[in-house]
Amino acid sequence: MATDSRIPGFYKRSLDERRDEIAKRRGVDSASLDAAFVRGLTHDLADKMIENVIGLYALPIGVGLNLRLNGKDHLVPMVVEEPSVVAAMSNAARMVREGGGFTGEADDPITTAQIQLWDVRDPAARERVLARSAELLEAANAAFPEIVRHGGGARELEAFDRGEGLFVVHLHVDCRDAMGANMVNTMAEALAPRIAEISGGRVGLRILTNLAERRCVHVRGTAPAASLATPDIAGPEVRDRIVEASIFAERDPYRATTHNKGIMNGIDPVVIATGNDWRAVEAGAHAYASRSGVYRPLATWRTNASGDLEGKMTLPMALGIVGGTIKVHPGARAALELLDVKTARELAMIAACAGLASNLAALRALATEGIQRGHMTLHARSVAAQAGAKGAEVEGVAQAIVAARDITLPAAQRELAKLRG
Ligand code: MEV
Repeated sequence: MATDSRIPGFYKRSLDERRDEIAKRRGVDSASLDAAFVRGLTHDLADKMIENVIGLYALPIGVGLNLRLNGKDHLVPMVVEEPSVVAAMSNAARMVREGGGFTGEADDPITTAQIQLWDVRDPAARERVLARSAELLEAANAAFPEIVRHGGGARELEAFDRGEGLFVVHLHVDCRDAMGANMVNTMAEALAPRIAEISGGRVGLRILTNLAERRCVHVRGTAPAASLATPDIAGPEVRDRIVEASIFAERDPYRATTHNKGIMNGIDPVVIATGNDWRAVEAGAHAYASRSGVYRPLATWRTNASGDLEGKMTLPMALGIVGGTIKVHPGARAALELLDVKTARELAMIAACAGLASNLAALRALATEGIQRGHMTLHARSVAAQAGAKGAEVEGVAQAIVAARDITLPAAQRELAKLRG
């Protein structure tokens, strides 16, 4: 069933109504969403996930809207503590949608393990190891035969002489729909003694690298200039200011860091919602951002030949849709079902699009009215709710206290009393 991810007024509905709407759009039973997101993880399951469990720590899950990738709509589950992230992502995704939606490609799902050796003094060691590639790749596959049955497996070896006896072998493995950490670590541990023999060295570490540069996603999105307009500033002017903001990040690592943080605002919530390892994605993203020796923005924005704003981004994105936490966590499984993805590569592209949209939203806000106004509106909604406002009252009270520039609980209580007559 095709899902339309455009749901006007979604934020005005109650939580129950939102879950019902999402269930309807995805053709799933509302009760299954309740099981995943209302009852959620049990203590028993949590106790199997990590050690020394004493309970659960909850974060909200929201649904990012309007995201279209390669012609297909996706509802995007996002787990995050920061207000305005979900709204901003959805807002910018709507602008890109007006330009036809995001497009993207993903590299093959290659995760790489490193096998470190010490005391390798023979300059011919590299050649010798590479000459035995076929036999070593076969041994790697024998250590994890399930992946070969799924169409993946060990693909290539590289070897690097890092000087003073330090020798490093990279084992590149196609992990298909798994993130692949366990798989490649198992393979690396299995191969290491044989590589030590061939190279004449002593085994050191055997572990994946999170700089997954062979597992990048490449996404692009165009926002028509008109879609960028604010009540006070015309679209083309906003577009030019966003390009200037991009150039700021391209030339200044201090700005690039915050620019990239805004990108991770969209990526991490999707990675967390789907039970993936967000620390791995963060580590890979920032290492990739500094691969030239200078820390740079992951996404950049320019005006295209039609006068519209075009953004593009490439970064490593090692995500899985099978195995690990996904198997255990009911929320992660339900989040993947909502996303309606068939492959880990598709999930990786969606996470990146959420990042690119978040970046666009942040730059547009920063280049126009600043981000505080939007934040204040959201803050006002939560103050209104604290004052006891229900349903449509929340929006009415929030708007009144924003207009009065008095976003406090007493002001919200006064406005609520007025509203109720
Ligand atoms: C805040 O979470 C993210 C921003 O700082 C990103 C940016 O500055 O581009 C607004």
